[in-house]
Amino acid sequence: MAKIGVIVGSIREGRVSEKLAKWVFAEVSKVAESELVDLKDYPMPLFNEPISPRYNPNRQPAPEVKKWLDKMASFDGFVIVTPEYNRSIPGALKNAIDSLGNEVADKPAAIVAHGSSGGAQAVANLRMVLPGVGLVSLPNALFFTNAVGEAINDEGMLKAELQDSPYGPQAQLSGLAATVVKYADALKSVRS
Ligand SMILES: Cc1cc2nc3c(=O)[nH]c(=O)nc-3n(C[C@H](O)[C@H](O)[C@H](O)COP(=O)(O)O)c2cc1C
Repeated sequence: MAKIGVIVGSIREGRVSEKLAKWVFAEVSKVAESELVDLKDYPMPLFNEPISPRYNPNRQPAPEVKKWLDKMASFDGFVIVTPEYNRSIPGALKNAIDSLGNEVADKPAAIVAHGSSGGAQAVANLRMVLPGVGLVSLPNALFFTNAVGEAINDEGMLKAELQDSPYGPQAQLSGLAATVVKYADALKSVRS
């Protein structure tokens, strides 16, 4: 069974990303082994290594970085939940990606974005970044405005009236989860 990491891209006090990620995690867990990966649990220095990690076979990462690398290496695919900050992604998420070596190469990633205006520029920016660490960026993405903060509770439950709509957020998320799992399974053969 594919193992999918759901990454919480914001570390801000009172973040919306956390409940959105819990909602994503619950849906992905229906079709895969899944784990919520909170960047708050992986505090890392700002990347400052002398050699690009993907091209440094003798890399000796600091223990707090190694903890992040080992966690990422344990997954077959990802859903990245990111807010839009200043037309891009949060610095903490970019730094976590910059710190990666080849742990995520040839693994798929879908994006769930949110922001005042829907997070489209966060998705566009993240899609430029992901290939840098070998991630296979999927066409799937979900976009939410700030209203999503009221539509999902702290436990990650979407309001009941939004759950059954055939084109609503729950149905869209279900499709996204199925696609990540499909690619996670398919790309295993690319990595072997
Ligand atoms: C520093 C900062 C910059 C932001 N820049 C944008 C932006 O460029 N576009 C946008 O749509 N929303 C922007 N927002 C709104 C956030 O996307 C929104 O507050 C979101 O809930 C933040 O995610 P978080 O609560 O998970 O941290 C910004 C918020 C912050 C704190």
